[in-house]
Amino acid sequence: ACQLDKWAKAAGLKYFGTAVDNPSLSNQGYMKIARDKDEFGQITPANGQKWSNTESSQGRFGYGSGDAIANVAKQTGQLLRCHTLVWYNQLPSWVSSNYNKDQMQRIITTHIQNVAGHYKGQCYAWDVVNEAFEDDGKFRQSAMYRAMGVDYITHSFKVASQTDPGAKLYYNDFNIERCCNAKINATIAMIKTIKAAGAPVDGIGMQGHSRVGKSPSKKELMDTMARFSELVSELAYTEIDIRHTKLPTSAADREQQAKDYLDVVAACLETPKCVGITIWDYTDQYSWIPGQYPGEGEACLFDKSLNKKPAYTSIISLFQSA
Ligand code: G3I
Repeated sequence: ACQLDKWAKAAGLKYFGTAVDNPSLSNQGYMKIARDKDEFGQITPANGQKWSNTESSQGRFGYGSGDAIANVAKQTGQLLRCHTLVWYNQLPSWVSSNYNKDQMQRIITTHIQNVAGHYKGQCYAWDVVNEAFEDDGKFRQSAMYRAMGVDYITHSFKVASQTDPGAKLYYNDFNIERCCNAKINATIAMIKTIKAAGAPVDGIGMQGHSRVGKSPSKKELMDTMARFSELVSELAYTEIDIRHTKLPTSAADREQQAKDYLDVVAACLETPKCVGITIWDYTDQYSWIPGQYPGEGEACLFDKSLNKKPAYTSIISLFQSA
């Protein structure tokens, strides 16, 4: 049979995975594919482990949503990418009060010790810090940054590594795929700064949300990864989806989408440190795109009726010929 993870592994990757969100857990047709570990050797909770779900009020920890996804991986033997410990978004409002540096440092310490402690041993990787930069390369003025400056990132990685030394610790962001831009330069400078301050960073996650016909070429992707490869021991595409900006789509649009996906897959295959690819859900049925970008979508490898698209078939062929 033709399955993504099986052929990704044969081609040299560690995994091919998908995000899974809580509402889809009760959809049996969806779960049959999501749990097929030859199709997806890795899963990422799309929302369940975020701060708003794990510590919605201070000191009260809840793991129901995160565990529901983590338990799938436990049962199937799929790798779990854990997502995410410190992010400006889906952050409960109590974290955004005006804390001073010491207070914020304690808040972050407590959050990471509890959440990464709860999942200790289950996470192949943690997205420790997510989306610290604006597209112009300036630090986002998040509550964490306002209180601590770049030290919030250093501190988060230190606490994560003390709490779960077995997990690969990632910095994860979007618009850092196509070489080269201000955000990529800022990311590189930040990784150097925090490593110099003693933070253990294992990986850089490139989310990879892009648009059909406008997504980065294989060369642009590989040029970025060459730069990142000098800094960390592994790289991954963590949230790939490639959306059409005009719906409905033609057969030609779907072929273009297949080509765009192939650039990502080929770039990863040809970059020694690129360990795997995760798609940000596998079916249009549960994609975040139409909610965020009305009129756009059909970004995934399976349509909303769970039929495979040309992009799926092309990826399998590329893996088979690699
Ligand atoms: O939980 C509430 C629910 O109670 C309410 O009834 C419902 C009504 O809208 O909203 C629910 O919250 C939604 C949440 O997903 C859970 O489903 C939010 O509105 C919605 O904004 C949120 O979207 C998520 C988004 O992150 C938030 O920024 C997407 O599902 C999730 O796929 C997306 O994932 C992010 C990555 O974590 C980081 N990178 C970008 C990526 C895409 O935005």
